[in-house]
Amino acid sequence: MIAEKKKRIAIFASGAGSNAARIIAHCNNSGSIEVALIVCNNPQAGVIAIAERNHIPCLLISKKEFLETGYVDFLHDENISLIVLAGFLWKVPSILVHHFPGRIINIHPALLPNYGGKGMYGMAVHKTVIEAKEKFSGITIHFVDEEYDHGSIIFQEKVSIDPGETPESLAEKIHRLEHEYFPKIIEQVITEQSE
Ligand code: GRF
Repeated sequence: MIAEKKKRIAIFASGAGSNAARIIAHCNNSGSIEVALIVCNNPQAGVIAIAERNHIPCLLISKKEFLETGYVDFLHDENISLIVLAGFLWKVPSILVHHFPGRIINIHPALLPNYGGKGMYGMAVHKTVIEAKEKFSGITIHFVDEEYDHGSIIFQEKVSIDPGETPESLAEKIHRLEHEYFPKIIEQVITEQSE
């Protein structure tokens, strides 16, 4: 019996990479998926050290080449089944969206369609949600299209915003949700695509 080849995912990240670390750990325990590549646009990003620690190749990309080519040939050569944006701050160019239709997902630290779009990331999102006196915030995992934070929604989970909540305390709650759910939803998307 020939063992099923593992599905290969590429994680795109610009920052600390705490989501990337959880996804790698989840895939190491799953027999069916492997993180084949980390793609990063920031030479100072913490995610680079996470790639090294896990012996995962890390591609540092340039804006010009990313906008012109989306690194599509490289991603196809690496046999990537799913592109996972985990704190990736550049908009995905159309060429990449077109070459990976329904195969690029993103996590956003708020309940889209509200509190999304250009500039809405990190503490800015949590600050805006609290200032708007929202009772809840949460995470959204969605397919990626040509617009920021705009593709069809796959999964959402919410948390309450308590009296005296600060952007920092809300960020902590949201990160816990991300780390719990993103790896599971990635596995679910990959499984559904294989069926
Ligand atoms: C997360 O809050 C995610 O929702 C957003 O970027 C952040 C990435 O954090 N898209 P990390 O780099 O995974 O720690």
